[in-house]
Amino acid sequence: MRSKLRKSRVKEAISQAFDECRSITFALFQDMDEATFSSQFHPDFSPVGWHLGHIAYIESLWLLERSGGSSCLFPQYRKLFAADSLPKSERVHLPSLEEIRYYLDTVREKVLEYLEVADIEQQERLWRFLIQHESQHCEIISFVLELGERNGQWGMGRETSYSCVSLSSQSSKLSTFTEMIPIPSGEFEQGSDSIDALDNERPAHPVYLDTYLIDRYPVTCGQYGAFMEAGGYQNSRWWSEAGWQWLQTEPVFQPLYWCSDAYGGKLRSYDHHPVCGVSWYEAEAYSRFVGKRLPTEAEWEKAVSWDAQANSHRTYPWGDEEPTAQHCNCLGVARHRHGLIGKTTAVDAYPAGQSAYGLYDTLGNVWEWTASWFDGYKGFQSYPYIGYSQVYFDHKHRVLKGGSWATRPWVMRSSFRNWYHPGVRQLFAGFRCAAD
Ligand code: AVJ
Ligand code: FE
Repeated sequence: MRSKLRKSRVKEAISQAFDECRSITFALFQDMDEATFSSQFHPDFSPVGWHLGHIAYIESLWLLERSGGSSCLFPQYRKLFAADSLPKSERVHLPSLEEIRYYLDTVREKVLEYLEVADIEQQERLWRFLIQHESQHCEIISFVLELGERNGQWGMGRETSYSCVSLSSQSSKLSTFTEMIPIPSGEFEQGSDSIDALDNERPAHPVYLDTYLIDRYPVTCGQYGAFMEAGGYQNSRWWSEAGWQWLQTEPVFQPLYWCSDAYGGKLRSYDHHPVCGVSWYEAEAYSRFVGKRLPTEAEWEKAVSWDAQANSHRTYPWGDEEPTAQHCNCLGVARHRHGLIGKTTAVDAYPAGQSAYGLYDTLGNVWEWTASWFDGYKGFQSYPYIGYSQVYFDHKHRVLKGGSWATRPWVMRSSFRNWYHPGVRQLFAGFRCAAD
């Protein structure tokens, strides 16, 4: 009897989360024109409409077909929306938004019917994976839309320099938000075995770290502006060999989202906002410029999740309570009634979101690059398919932690791992520094 009650509670929570997640997804597409929906704004990323269809495809594949044993509902979409089928440039010939909405709605109706009879004890992990899959694709949609807006303003691929309020009186800015926190040596628990944890977060395992220092705040635009003014992009001494090489092929001179609000005509000071839209190489160069380095993933995770007093791991830096508007700048959910801020916020805006060690702004706002290659933990087992994580254990991807203002709560926790090639600067990513 009791277990029956638990099962129905789990099903109810899942169907509510599916609903909430989907309503934020549809909100992204409200009033979207056809060109925005199906254009490829950057060669490395699919049109936003493709992601929408892919979300339906994956939901149908894993829940209706693989779990429920149904046959494919929309076989005509299989080739288009599978992840490994068409090259990204061929994903521009899409059905209309209405047709893809119909696809999503039809799949979802069947999925909720199936949930009634599904063996949830066995499948809970898969259902939770699917909410996270949708959440991640929607974050990609958010930054691709940002790229589209910039192309519209400036023409494809062109970068424009405009002066920013950030680049005045830099000396005071350099001394603000530079504090570092010493993290004492010792063991902590990395990763997670919770039902939400994706394959690459498992298994939770102890890691010993020597004492190190880590920034209390992410690197701000004010601080990064000083690097730019000092000729940081022109001087190879701050760059690794690979970083300098990258810079020659991609001659940039400021973060991709440098003061991106300014083109609305209204200048706003970004001095205290985290820098956003940098590659791993830029983060590495800045770190050297200030005599620091990037933290390893383990260093980042310990400083964010470890509660030394309780000798235990926290799901979120502040504890185990789900994120609210008090904790961080992430993509809101209806049940917390906190809306989408839709941009970065100052790095000290969320004192209630501090970690046990006192780090600010670790979840939400901007992703943070770490020094670590993306790799499997000892005992890694791929789930639900090797293409999810395992094929990226190639020492060509660096780990990012924490989430951005466009990250949904279902994928925001201290143990969550994101990964990209070090040259990617389209995601909403910044960094903080560490030192020995
Ligand atoms: C974790 C964001 C790198 O976009 O390739 C989506 C997430 N995996 N569908 C990606 C993902 C399969 C993944 N990232
Ligand atoms: Fe996917």
